[in-house]
Amino acid sequence: MPGFILLYTFFLFSWNSWNHFSCQINETLIKETADAMVSTGLAKLGYQYANIDDCWAEHDRDSQGYLVANGRAFPSGIKALADYVHNKGLKLGIYSDARYRTCSSEMPGSLGYEKKNAETFAAWGIDYLSMTTATMEI
Ligand SMILES: *[C@@H]1O[C@H](CO)[C@@H](O)[C@H](O)[C@H]1NC(C)=O
Repeated sequence: MPGFILLYTFFLFSWNSWNHFSCQINETLIKETADAMVSTGLAKLGYQYANIDDCWAEHDRDSQGYLVANGRAFPSGIKALADYVHNKGLKLGIYSDARYRTCSSEMPGSLGYEKKNAETFAAWGIDYLSMTTATMEI
């Protein structure tokens, strides 16, 4: 199935913050990852995307309904981080959830705010959006 191969290739050739760091992420980590993707030669092998997973935003939207980068973890903002990653010749991915909250519940999801989120990600220069619908039901 071609779709499967495409997806498989994508995951194979990208780095994702969730696997090792879950919510313990910050701009330094993403920058160091982008540096390492280049210096270790992974970028040359086709690893193009550094993907920020869950927990990158503040707990609540701003008064206009826009997502806000977590000020402690990403003090320079996501736009500056995207610029950094692009300067390395790589692409930056980000994460959202189709529901009200993301998997971690630490940040808002996209439901009802799809357009605002898309505008935000475009303005920041995000190259790829990873979207989940999986929220843990307890
Ligand atoms: C950034 O996150 C990494 C991984 O969790 C951590 O080791 C490091 O101390 C953090 N750095 C800052 C400046 O918070």
